[in-house]
Amino acid sequence: MALTDFDLALFGGSGDLAMRKLLPALYNRERCRDIPSTARIICIGRHEWSREAFLTEVEKNAKPHIASGNFSEAAWNAFCARINYVALDAMNPASYQALVDAMRQETTGINRVFYLATPPSLFATVCHNLAACGLATPNSRVVLEKPLGRDLASAKQINEEVGRVFAESQIFRIDHYLGKETVQNLLALRFGNVLFEPLWRREWISDVQITIAEELGVGNRLDYYDTAGALRDMLQNHLLQLLCIVAMEPPVAATPDAVRDEKLKVLRSLKRFTPHMLVQNVVRGQYRSGYVDGVAVPGYRKEPGANPGSRTETFVAVKAEIETWRWAGVPFYLRTGKRMADQLAEIVVRFKSIPHSIFAQPNSSFQPNSLIIRLQPDEGLQLNLMAKTPGDGMRLRPVELELDFRETFKQPRMEAYERLLLDVLRGQLTLFMRSDELEAAWEWVEPILNYWEQEGIEPMPYTSGTWGPAAASALIGRDGLQWREES
Ligand code: BG6
Repeated sequence: MALTDFDLALFGGSGDLAMRKLLPALYNRERCRDIPSTARIICIGRHEWSREAFLTEVEKNAKPHIASGNFSEAAWNAFCARINYVALDAMNPASYQALVDAMRQETTGINRVFYLATPPSLFATVCHNLAACGLATPNSRVVLEKPLGRDLASAKQINEEVGRVFAESQIFRIDHYLGKETVQNLLALRFGNVLFEPLWRREWISDVQITIAEELGVGNRLDYYDTAGALRDMLQNHLLQLLCIVAMEPPVAATPDAVRDEKLKVLRSLKRFTPHMLVQNVVRGQYRSGYVDGVAVPGYRKEPGANPGSRTETFVAVKAEIETWRWAGVPFYLRTGKRMADQLAEIVVRFKSIPHSIFAQPNSSFQPNSLIIRLQPDEGLQLNLMAKTPGDGMRLRPVELELDFRETFKQPRMEAYERLLLDVLRGQLTLFMRSDELEAAWEWVEPILNYWEQEGIEPMPYTSGTWGPAAASALIGRDGLQWREES
């Protein structure tokens, strides 16, 4: 579907996210000729840069994030030609006049989009100031980048304040994991095939593991990260969104509210943690020095500028349960961490063991079937089955059915932010969180945050380049299981 002409105002336009992800994503769409010829991108920041000086920044900081195979001088020049820069103090209503001047006033046939890649503390002020200067119209859209609050109260406040200016149908809360190709493929797998749905329940599934492991440390984001930690940064959003897509009931259609209603039901069915349960079911960790890919790296507390007594977690593992007829008794193990042994994101669905072996082999020598959905680094599906080994006799052993999406679909890929930006520009809300989803996710994680805070829980140390604290293996080990990478 061709895009309608647009004015995209990007708050935080000179920031890290804009340079690493948003501008490269928009450029890629330019290269694919998706961007209407008269569309404009207005980057907004505090620095008093001229347009030329800002474009030098874009050249220096955004261009290196474009894959070399995607680069075309002509497309890059066309892209830069539509970028403007406005210096603005987001807190000062008077300074919005510069933005008013930079945006087109008549909006017929032009979508007006405000992308807030700023700290959440600015969301309410920016929205109110946009309304005050007349830029927020009933058909404009606002995009909110995470973190969307730091607890339930602040998330509610953001929803309320932003909601005073924009209707829910105008608000796009981004979780970039929902824009990843394999997450979309999970929807295709579950609801485009008849094979899995009958098995997708407690009768046949023994447990589900969802892992997002990073080799990278905190990098240059310490200021933000030290106030957030892995739970707020990854679990409350990315991991819970993946869990929702795995666990939700089939929506009646792939429409925004049909999908979001089902995700909300999952979040509301998550078993609430009591302090007693938290001890057994949640692990908080923080990396110490070690080696990642053979390179020595410092511990979190020794990162440049770090607080040597910081209690911020860089790892979290949780055993979650969903209290529904479909999932009662099936543990969902979630974990994420920085400076781990490998860079990967995957969902592992393990099925139950065969009830009885008709072969000479005992039941215990059969590996239960499992389905691995790989999001990163490569995208694919792996179905683990048992098969007969060739030759005389009847011995069975595990085999893998592999589907590599890059091999199967040779066409160019789209980065998560490209897909999500296109959806914003088209007004398509399915892959964005609704206000009630956001609040339900905070409601579930809040007892963990409160417990850590009130009890002063120290994160458990783990050596960089490993799979996290030993307690994370014990968490799953208590159920007689292992994380896939440790089995
Ligand atoms: C972001 C987090 O949302 O996701 C980062 O703030 C994290 O800390 C990143 O590194 C991981 O995203 P991806 O797409 O690289 O797995």
